[in-house]
Amino acid sequence: MPVASGTLSAEQLWSRLSLRRNDRALLTGGTRSGKSTLGDYLGASFTTQYRSSGARRMILDTKPRFKAQWRMSGRTAKKVYKNWGHGAYVPDSILIDDPADLRAAWATGHRTVIVQAPYGGAIGLQCACLQAFLNDSRYTRPQLVHVDEALDFFHGNGMAKNDVIVKLPRAGAERGTGSLF
Ligand SMILES: Nc1ncnc2c1ncn2[C@@H]1O[C@H](COP(=O)(O)OP(=O)(O)OP(=O)(O)O)[C@@H](O)[C@H]1O
Ligand SMILES: [Mg+2]
Repeated sequence: MPVASGTLSAEQLWSRLSLRRNDRALLTGGTRSGKSTLGDYLGASFTTQYRSSGARRMILDTKPRFKAQWRMSGRTAKKVYKNWGHGAYVPDSILIDDPADLRAAWATGHRTVIVQAPYGGAIGLQCACLQAFLNDSRYTRPQLVHVDEALDFFHGNGMAKNDVIVKLPRAGAERGTGSLF
């Protein structure tokens, strides 16, 4: 929807942006143009908007860029990020490094899971966690997968490294799962 930016504050403009359930979205832009920041805002507003329906959010972070708040051990994830520059924590998020962690993450009340793989590595783990997230989806529960660096999931010739990354936008919506690349 076109908005007359001259009459609205930045806050008002941002509040007009949202993802509905089952949406598929692509953010493009130059380096450091704010793609991840906008993606984080959209993901957070998604979980808030659909909280009463039990919304779930998964961030596939191959850069890595997003700071999780908790670890599966129940401890804060602060130590993981001790050598990072500044950056905001994703509220109420938990770091997982095994697809089997998902069940416990939801059972302990977390609404956002982050799968982290430094410098584009461990794509296999990312895809295994994504597959488990999709396997456990159902149409009545709004879910969102945020793939922060989509390029890491594709070979130079455009082939996907794993089919699940293509299945996500193609078939995720049938099972209540939207995607943001
Ligand atoms: N709306 C905004 N206003 C001011 N600063 C912003 C805004 N959005 C992002 N930034 C700042 O710009 C920098 C880059 O943002 P971000 O990491 O979201 O960009 P990006 O497009 O994802 O970058 P990359 O191409 O490296 O992935 C960050 O330091 C962030 O805090
Ligand atoms: Mg980014």
